[in-house]
Amino acid sequence: MFRMTTKAGAAVLVTACLLTACSKEAPQNTASSVPPQAAPVQPEQQQTGEALFKQFCSSCHPDGGNVSDPKKSLHGAALRKNNIATADDIVRIMRNPGARMLRFDAATISDRDAYVIADYVLKTFR
Ligand code: HEC
Repeated sequence: MFRMTTKAGAAVLVTACLLTACSKEAPQNTASSVPPQAAPVQPEQQQTGEALFKQFCSSCHPDGGNVSDPKKSLHGAALRKNNIATADDIVRIMRNPGARMLRFDAATISDRDAYVIADYVLKTFR
């Protein structure tokens, strides 16, 4: 009888401890894990191809067109006709464009972003 009571008492104690530990840990965990999760938002500075294209290109190439020379649009057929097949080709044009296009050097659009834009162009305007 005494044994059983002790066991039961111990079980209650253990349960109580577990519960207390749980209820103590839960809010602490949430509180301490929120700031570290919110902090690494920094890599968000890497913009998508779509955002970069809108920022730098779409004023002259809306929807992949070309406001001053429709034959030099960014659509697949036009690109193929003008021997532009790869991301390298598009980046080369950004770095060294024709007379009417703005020039984008690496200080304005990094190599990484230039290739992100080029991939976006190749995938989006077919
Ligand atoms: C100020 C207007 C302007 C901006 C901004 C501009 N372009 Fe152009 N782009 C042109 C013009 C005009 C041409 C036709 C060639 C020429 O006269 O320079 C052209 C041609 C091209 C071509 C060759 C297309 C073909 O079919 O031969 C590519 C590729 C291109 N641009 C990509 C881009 C990208 C990528 C951006 C953004 C990073 C961009 N352009 C921003 C005006 C612009």
